[in-house]
Amino acid sequence: MSQNRSSAVMAQRREPHDSLDFFPTPPWATRALIEHVLVGLGKYGYRSFLAHSVVWEPACGEDHMVNALAEYFGEVIGTDVDARMHGGPPHDFLMPYLPYIVEHRPGPHFVITNPPFRLAAEFVARGQEVAEIAVAMLVRTVFLEGAARYREIFESNPPLIFAPFSERVPMLKGRLDRKASSATSYAWFVWPGRDFKRTSIDPKLIWIPPCRKALERPGDYEEPDR
Ligand SMILES: C[S@@+](CC[C@H](N)C(=O)[O-])C[C@H]1O[C@@H](n2cnc3c(N)ncnc32)[C@H](O)[C@@H]1O
Repeated sequence: MSQNRSSAVMAQRREPHDSLDFFPTPPWATRALIEHVLVGLGKYGYRSFLAHSVVWEPACGEDHMVNALAEYFGEVIGTDVDARMHGGPPHDFLMPYLPYIVEHRPGPHFVITNPPFRLAAEFVARGQEVAEIAVAMLVRTVFLEGAARYREIFESNPPLIFAPFSERVPMLKGRLDRKASSATSYAWFVWPGRDFKRTSIDPKLIWIPPCRKALERPGDYEEPDR
């Protein structure tokens, strides 16, 4: 089997309906959000603003995204529906209540995650209800397509920012692998939170330049401490 078929996540990947869809995010792809995308939010993307903000990662898996976000944000709260992976109390993000840990903190100012693809639209909607400033979702670029999704989301609620990666972001089921390759393209989509005053309905297009090499750090591919 070739490298691409054995370890890459292909564009036509299908998950069983009840799968939790655990695909950890390489940390450099999370850093790219702050370094190249959130700047599109003006003052809300400033490092000094982020350093005083609370971000909720509501589908945190094994904390790969949480750990990268912690390099920039004042406080990062990670929750997941699967307590076995996360080690904290389980929380289903799509339920209409907040977990204790979120309810008793300021904000959240941002909701940032890599949601299960089949629930991405619901995650966006719930994220916009709870985040004050913005909701950033890392999803396959094909999320842009489809008549149903157009009617449900993009027609009346387009993102503030659409930011495709110029490089591939290899996402593997259940693990990170520095050497993996991928045929699937990913992008960051950013929607306004409930207190964000949007001045234009037109999304901003930001190309994420090649940045993997510059944003990888030693230890990124080691198993997080549990
Ligand atoms: C694609 S993985 C992303 C993991 C992590 N955000 C990262 O990037 O490393 C999706 C995660 O969503 C979690 N999940 C699935 N359905 C959920 C729900 N309804 N509420 C909260 N988490 C959910 C899964 O357990 C899994 O950890």
